[in-house]
Amino acid sequence: MTPARDESSLVAADAAPEERALEAVLRPRTLAELVGQERVREQLSLVLEAARARGGVPDHVLLGGPPGLGKTTLAMIIAHEMGAPLRVTSGPAIQHAGDLASILSTLTEGEVLFIDEIHRLARPAEETLYLAMEDFRVDVVVGKGPGATAIPIDLPRFTLVGATTRAGLLPSPLRDRFGFTGYMEFYESAELERILLRSAGLLEVRTARDGIGEIAGRSRGTPRIANRLLRRVRDYAEVRADGVVTAEVARAALRVYDVDEQGLDRLDRGVLDALLTKFGGGPVGLTTLAVAVGEEPETVETVAEPFLVRIGLLARTPRGRVATPVAWRRFGLEPPRPDAAGGEPTLFEG
Ligand SMILES: Nc1ncnc2c1ncn2[C@@H]1O[C@H](COP(=O)(O)OP(=O)(O)O)[C@@H](O)[C@H]1O
Ligand SMILES: [Mg+2]
Repeated sequence: MTPARDESSLVAADAAPEERALEAVLRPRTLAELVGQERVREQLSLVLEAARARGGVPDHVLLGGPPGLGKTTLAMIIAHEMGAPLRVTSGPAIQHAGDLASILSTLTEGEVLFIDEIHRLARPAEETLYLAMEDFRVDVVVGKGPGATAIPIDLPRFTLVGATTRAGLLPSPLRDRFGFTGYMEFYESAELERILLRSAGLLEVRTARDGIGEIAGRSRGTPRIANRLLRRVRDYAEVRADGVVTAEVARAALRVYDVDEQGLDRLDRGVLDALLTKFGGGPVGLTTLAVAVGEEPETVETVAEPFLVRIGLLARTPRGRVATPVAWRRFGLEPPRPDAAGGEPTLFEG
């Protein structure tokens, strides 16, 4: 479920529908053009090169990681690098095993099938996928009721690319059928600056170096957010300044849009605020925390938490989510002593 978005969508890591076309313009087309993700890039380039050398089709690829880090981009790059056609669908779009069977049975040799949000695939479709991934076969059911028969059809070799924000949720029979799994990492500021410079070039935005740095620092380590902030800062630069994105212009623009110095958005701040003020800093369960901020647990877990964990404001413990001392101080509060209220070591044990 996609929650309703207000102006906080400026730093939301997932893409709004109207944003998709804009994003397409900024997507790198080749592995060489892709900025950052050195590890995944090197691993993947080996997989692709080896397949090319054998004149074969690359193994199935699973891409995991928070939204906005380049999973869809990489899926497109894989097809492009292999000179293969690309078919795009998503877990939620496939309701029945039959939907998947009809996609599979029309694939061509070497085609790349991209299934976004693959963790949302319905269970019966999953089983169809197992057979297709492993044996390149699909059972097409003909007829209804007791007279129905399954006709096995051989499929051409294809490459499945699955993307998920929740790799941990994939059933292991599915995970095991991928020959390669890549985990996308948040980007360093310097990498975001390179991405922003490239985007500014493509969008013909005039920038000063310090302006790019200012935007990079507030992008939550996420290229999608960086590109979005760039567009908003450009608006501001054109309307209220002389069109050049300087640090001063960026700061003023982002103040208008309520993006703070670390790029925390309303959801992030809501999660921290609830954790600190309603639950005494935790530990509190994910579901309880999500209810307190009026969001789906999945949104809190996949959109807000990875970044909060990364910048050291929140910790996930076996007993629940906990605010770190840094988080307390960030809100101008004194962290509780470990043995004071909220620090519960013995209370819930045993
Ligand atoms: N490594 C990268 N280099 C340059 N641009 C990137 C990179 N990763 C992502 N982007 C840009 O960020 C946006 C979101 O990327 P996308 O692949 O849709 O993320 P995801 O599928 O993981 O949510 C796209 O417009 C893309 O151009
Ligand atoms: Mg995507």
